Amino acid sequence: MCGIVGYIGNREAYNVLITGLKRLEYRGYDSAGISILNSQSSIYKCKGKVSDLERFVSGNNVSGTIGMGHTRWATHGEPNDVNAHPHKSFHGKFILIHNGIIENYARLKEKLMALGIPFKSETDTEVLVNLIEYVYEKGNSTAEIAVRMALSEVIGAYGLVIACTDEPDKLIAARKGSPLVIGVGSKEYFIASDATPIVEYTKSVIYLNDNDVAIISREGLILKNLQNDNQIPRIHQLDLDIGEIDKGGYKHFMLKEIFEQPRSILDTFRGRVGTELNAVYLGGLYNVTERLVEARRIIIIGCGTSWHAGLVGEYLFEDLARISVEVEYASEFRYRNPIITPDDVVIAISQSGETADTLAAVRLAKEAGALVLGICNVVGSSIPRETDAGVYTHAGPEIGVASTKAFTAQVTVLAMMALLIGRKKNVLSEEQYLSYIKSLTEVPGRIEQILVHDDEFKRIASLYKLANNFLYLGRGYLFPVALEGALKLKEISYIHAEGYPAAEMKHGPIALIDHKMPVVVLATKDSSYEKIVSNIQEVKARNGIVIAVVTEGESVITKMADHVLEIPVIDPIFAPLLAVIPLQLIAYHIATMRGCNVDQPRNLAKSVTVE
Ligand code: F6R
Repeated sequence: MCGIVGYIGNREAYNVLITGLKRLEYRGYDSAGISILNSQSSIYKCKGKVSDLERFVSGNNVSGTIGMGHTRWATHGEPNDVNAHPHKSFHGKFILIHNGIIENYARLKEKLMALGIPFKSETDTEVLVNLIEYVYEKGNSTAEIAVRMALSEVIGAYGLVIACTDEPDKLIAARKGSPLVIGVGSKEYFIASDATPIVEYTKSVIYLNDNDVAIISREGLILKNLQNDNQIPRIHQLDLDIGEIDKGGYKHFMLKEIFEQPRSILDTFRGRVGTELNAVYLGGLYNVTERLVEARRIIIIGCGTSWHAGLVGEYLFEDLARISVEVEYASEFRYRNPIITPDDVVIAISQSGETADTLAAVRLAKEAGALVLGICNVVGSSIPRETDAGVYTHAGPEIGVASTKAFTAQVTVLAMMALLIGRKKNVLSEEQYLSYIKSLTEVPGRIEQILVHDDEFKRIASLYKLANNFLYLGRGYLFPVALEGALKLKEISYIHAEGYPAAEMKHGPIALIDHKMPVVVLATKDSSYEKIVSNIQEVKARNGIVIAVVTEGESVITKMADHVLEIPVIDPIFAPLLAVIPLQLIAYHIATMRGCNVDQPRNLAKSVTVE
């Protein structure tokens, strides 16, 4: 779960690498390093962020037109200067950066140490670079052959950039399990964990597949697999703008991404649904619609926020399409012995498309013969490439580690899917179908109306920024939003928070309530409104502090709650898309007021490519 960048061409590599690493910091930021392959080929690396690396490097000669850089999220060995990448082999001939985990590293390390090969770090990556040099020195004629032979002994996941000082005008890139993209310019190539470091230089990219090895010089690129068979590099055109990956005047990416939601949701349904279309069109599902309609059961898999979106999907598919749904944590599902049949449809939800557990669950479901679909944001990432079909969320790059616009985009896609199937199955009448479509298209405008109240959310945040605990309660469609609100708060502000179905409060959590406990209650007008009013009374009777998210114009809860946050009227099935907005903003403001780094919370990484 690290970010890697490589460059070969005629520009100063240092600038390309540092800018690229800053874009990839969401993938990991506990240490960073760089190596420019010039006459010295020195490695500069240190604990801390890319900005610390810049300070560390300053004053040194980093001129040169080939190089590699790395931003780390530790898996083997604590974050420190020695464990940071790049790593150099024992005789200094190979320099390497790595994203992933070498699972058999302990065995390989033992073997190499028995041969007298020394190690400096605690990382699995140093095992790899030493193994490559060992194979090379045994008489295997080129760096490429040594890399391919060494990788054939490796079990695990890797995205790699490798340089050999004997072949100074060349970089080798290899992938298995961890994403790697190569940007193709004119006599120059860019290698990165995703396209964000590449997009300002070229839009032509090659996505490496598992077991691919690319041998790259200024003159060209040769693509092979580990078995030395030539592969045809397929060039794709990026649909990404540089403007989409900077902060656009906001203090943090997270804030920008929260405010982008009216547009990102519009982008999610643009051309797929609309009052003028009077229907839902999901091109990615065109060939599998019949199987979806006939599905006996839908199993939704995901992690974290994507799992919460899946829970909203459960309500949507059950209500609108009358299909039985199970929502599973990918990490649990893959290690159980789940019963999956060819009549099942499995939907994997993932912003990054790279989450290791979700990807493994996708593979398991495919082996069992289910139809496997993806709902992903990052185009060309692993999950959409391995699923049978799917729908991209088109929310644009999400850089803030805490997921915001990806959640609303995922729920939007699930709603469109449920509407499509519900109509095809005749569960929804034409009139209901059109009325839901109309409501969905109103969502972006309604979110705009909520965002204008940001100052009020900020004021409430300032009152509770020192709280030690928060409780979030919701029922029905808003129960997953309670979970999501609690997750947002805890991951960026480090305040302990729990989400609960409101009715469950009586079965335990009510014991926690006292005059210091803020309880965020999702209490919009829907079929469980009366019940949630009772839940609020239960909290107030125990002196808890109630912050209620209510429907505009509401008068009963307004009198009972300590604070109310109003959201506009919307069909209850789309309420999650609105109700989550104030919760995202309150979490954001509390975290910034507590001095937390909201875009890069401690211990977290954007893309969890390890299990
Ligand atoms: C929380 C968050 C994580 C991700 C989870 C899955 O704000 O961002 O919980 O939702 O790591 O990531 P994806 O969606 O990329 O599979």
